[in-house]
Amino acid sequence: MWALRVHGYALAVSFCFIALVAASRKTDPLEVKALKDIKKSLIDPSDKLRNWNKGDPCAANWTGVRCFDLKGDDGYFHIRELYLMTLNLSGTLAPQLGMLSHLVIMNFMWNNLIGTIPKEIGHITSLILLLLSGNKLSGSLPDELGNLKNLNRLQVDENQLSGLVPKSFANLVHVKHLHMNNNSFNGQLPSELSNVSNLIHLLLDNNNFSGYLPPEFSKLQSLAILQLDNNNFSGNGIPSTFENLLSLVKLSLRNCSLEGAIPDFSSIRNLTYLDLSWNQFTGPIPSKKLADNMTTFDLSHNKLNGSIPRGVVYPHLQRLQLENNLLSGSVPATIWQNISFSKKAKLIIDLDNNLLSDIFGDLNPPINVTLRLSGNPVCKKSNIQGIGQFCAHERRDVDESESTNSTDVCPIQSCPVDNFFEYSPSSPVHCFCAAPLRVGYRLKSPSFSYFPPYITSFESYITASLNLSLFQLSIDSYEWEKGPRLRMYFKFFPSYNDSYTFNISEILRIGSIFASWGFPRTDFFGPYELLNVTLLGPYANMIINTESGKGKKGIKVAILIAAAASILAISVIIILNLLLFRRKLKYRHLISSKRMSSDIYIKIDGVKSFTLKELTHATNKFDISTKVGEGGYGNVYKGILSDETVVAVKRAGENSLQGQKEFLTEIELLSRLHHRNLVSLLGYCNEEGEQMLVYEFMPNGTLREWISGKESYRNFSFEIRNVIYVIFR
Ligand SMILES: *[C@@H]1O[C@H](CO)[C@@H](O)[C@H](O)[C@H]1NC(C)=O
Ligand SMILES: *[C@@H]1O[C@H](CO)[C@@H](O)[C@H](O)[C@H]1NC(C)=O
Ligand SMILES: *[C@@H]1O[C@H](CO)[C@@H](O)[C@H](O)[C@H]1NC(C)=O
Ligand SMILES: *[C@@H]1O[C@H](CO)[C@@H](O)[C@H](O)[C@H]1NC(C)=O
Ligand SMILES: *[C@@H]1O[C@H](CO)[C@@H](O)[C@H](O)[C@H]1NC(C)=O
Ligand SMILES: *[C@@H]1O[C@H](CO)[C@@H](O)[C@H](O)[C@H]1NC(C)=O
Ligand SMILES: *[C@@H]1O[C@H](CO)[C@@H](O)[C@H](O)[C@H]1NC(C)=O
Ligand SMILES: *[C@@H]1O[C@H](CO)[C@@H](O)[C@H](O)[C@H]1NC(C)=O
Ligand SMILES: *[C@@H]1O[C@H](CO)[C@@H](O)[C@H](O)[C@H]1NC(C)=O
Ligand SMILES: *[C@@H]1O[C@H](CO)[C@@H](O)[C@H](O)[C@H]1NC(C)=O
Ligand SMILES: *[C@@H]1O[C@H](CO)[C@@H](O)[C@H](O)[C@H]1NC(C)=O
Ligand SMILES: *[C@@H]1O[C@H](CO)[C@@H](O)[C@H](O)[C@H]1NC(C)=O
Repeated sequence: MWALRVHGYALAVSFCFIALVAASRKTDPLEVKALKDIKKSLIDPSDKLRNWNKGDPCAANWTGVRCFDLKGDDGYFHIRELYLMTLNLSGTLAPQLGMLSHLVIMNFMWNNLIGTIPKEIGHITSLILLLLSGNKLSGSLPDELGNLKNLNRLQVDENQLSGLVPKSFANLVHVKHLHMNNNSFNGQLPSELSNVSNLIHLLLDNNNFSGYLPPEFSKLQSLAILQLDNNNFSGNGIPSTFENLLSLVKLSLRNCSLEGAIPDFSSIRNLTYLDLSWNQFTGPIPSKKLADNMTTFDLSHNKLNGSIPRGVVYPHLQRLQLENNLLSGSVPATIWQNISFSKKAKLIIDLDNNLLSDIFGDLNPPINVTLRLSGNPVCKKSNIQGIGQFCAHERRDVDESESTNSTDVCPIQSCPVDNFFEYSPSSPVHCFCAAPLRVGYRLKSPSFSYFPPYITSFESYITASLNLSLFQLSIDSYEWEKGPRLRMYFKFFPSYNDSYTFNISEILRIGSIFASWGFPRTDFFGPYELLNVTLLGPYANMIINTESGKGKKGIKVAILIAAAASILAISVIIILNLLLFRRKLKYRHLISSKRMSSDIYIKIDGVKSFTLKELTHATNKFDISTKVGEGGYGNVYKGILSDETVVAVKRAGENSLQGQKEFLTEIELLSRLHHRNLVSLLGYCNEEGEQMLVYEFMPNGTLREWISGKESYRNFSFEIRNVIYVIFR
């Protein structure tokens, strides 16, 4: 106990030091003013930015504001990142954003912002990531954005932007990722874009571009993904120079009003996905074999004629769509020859509505191949055995989706699901019940059409990038959406040898890798969208109000565990709040430096916060005569409260003390578990380095005997065993 106190002192002193340093910090006044103006033009219905008027932005860590750690030459601190994603913000972007002259990341994704993109953003030449996806921004892109010579990623997709792509974009020489899809951009694509020589992913689909495809684009020698679907290049063709886009992995020009012949892409050796469907291409399918790794080949809904090239086999092919063309000759029933279906592979071959009149080879595809031939003359040939099954008109849905059931043999009732705990499906520890971190994620432009063969390598990619073990990720469900895009939900489980929950720094670490696009490049899986990071259960508990209690000395932190709040999906920002709370905590801590420990009180209905004095009194100063049990965790005492209630007090020994958060999480967990056979939690005490839980006292024997009583133990559901574990560990 004494050692603890000394330790507490040392901590208090070091907090004090940090606070003094922090107090001397100052953010550039121009930037402070800018932030206040930025807030003024935003509408913040959920008051997420409520701390944006308290103290200094960098020193007091305003929500979503991150600063450089070091002082600049001018002696001021500068704002490095503005991270205001999924905060339900509306209103407009203030021109004063341009005053944040040192900003590196600007992230306003998935809000409801309206108005135009202020041209002043073009002044922030330090910007590396400009992320405005998923708002209702309108107007055109300001020419000044072309000044952002350090920009690596520009995402304005899913807004209502219109107008031309500024020619000034030619200066964005460091941009690798340009996402402008799902807007109303129009006019001719500027050939100047071909000067953006580092471009890797260019997504311009679902706009209203017209004119022609600039032949100069062939200069984009790093371009791996070019997606232009649903634009209108009225009657022009694909320039033959596109055959020299040698880094292409995916080319998608669906529904672009293109005409002419299909170029020869056979020298693009990394090509895996080619979609030229819903155009008016004419002539034959080029007979030269494309790259070995082709997964998807969609030329459907064109006016192609001639025959289907024979003898071309792609071992990874998943989708071959040639339906609704004018193809004639015979069906090469050999396409699937080299495919290994052992690896969960599947192949769909759609040749409906052509002029195919015969079959070449054995019409006996393996069951993993879906072949469609309806609307072809060959269907009338009754002498071809088994043709009927391929000529039926009803079709199954091509899209697949899946949700995993972590059924296994772990009893369903054994993990407190209402508390958002779950079994970690692939944990090496059988039936490991823990609280997952949930992340909504979408592959924007994958280069495959059927996920199962690649799930494992995808999971390895994600976990390796996050420095987690493979078993910690469970893809809860995935679903193909229009695009096609692949939407999925991840659950990340804590590792079994750490704890049932992630700690805060781990959550922050994972969240920030997602939010800063810290994943290594992959063209096969393509670019991704972070949809949300949902903090539920133990992670949601921490909607924290810091307030200095007047009656009480020290800190009073009310952690509101409203059921509603924990069900709500809450964005990462909460974590930021949480961090803020922790910092505040430290900060306040020394203001009342008389106290050695940070006493945290939580508010849960029916759970009382006892003072140390009350419990000392109730147990006759923890007299040995009141002791009714003991274990590695510490001791259990029988106590009598001043209102005569008889209680059992579990007092953690020094080795069993937990972090404040773990302790509070545990209390919260215990308070939610109700069972007729279970002793109920009445309250806790968290003062002066003590951690105690107060239970209703069971008159028959000691708590431990009662809990391990033979006949009842076996009937316990896991819930209760879990509680026992918590109590007696
Ligand atoms: C988002 O803001 C709108 C008002 O702009 C409000 O009606 C809605 O409830 C808010 N949604 C959430 C999840 O806070
Ligand atoms: C993009 O636009 C297309 C066409 O309007 C639409 O089908 C698709 O759902 C949109 N994508 C998203 C993610 O909104
Ligand atoms: C594009 O780059 C070329 C050199 O590669 C240069 O001559 C030309 O001026 C650039 N165009 C623009 C619009 O910057
Ligand atoms: C697309 O552009 C054409 C002119 O090229 C215009 O007539 C049409 O209204 C635009 N459509 C949309 C949806 O903006
Ligand atoms: C093609 O794009 C137009 C808009 O440009 C859209 O109205 C139409 O539905 C699209 N057709 C297909 C088959 O996607
Ligand atoms: C494409 O543009 C042409 C010419 O402006 C127009 O006639 C045609 O209807 C448009 N097609 C689509 C699908 O919008
Ligand atoms: C093709 O892909 C491989 C492996 O990803 C890569 O090393 C190579 O540079 C790519 N080739 C081209 C021309 O981009
Ligand atoms: C083809 O895919 C395999 C793995 O699926 C990969 O190892 C190989 O590098 C790819 N080849 C090319 C040319 O991209
Ligand atoms: C593919 O078909 C073979 C039999 O031809 C079967 O053994 C295998 O399980 C199938 N694979 C899948 C993923 O359905
Ligand atoms: C998962 O389990 C639920 C309930 O047991 C069941 O209704 C559902 O069909 C299962 N889903 C899958 C994909 O097995
Ligand atoms: C966030 O993710 C959860 C699943 O983790 C999902 O149910 C919810 O709809 C998502 N919210 C948004 C706004 O995408
Ligand atoms: C603000 O954050 C910085 C860096 O994370 C930290 O060092 C500092 O103590 C925090 N300040 C306050 C007042 O919480």
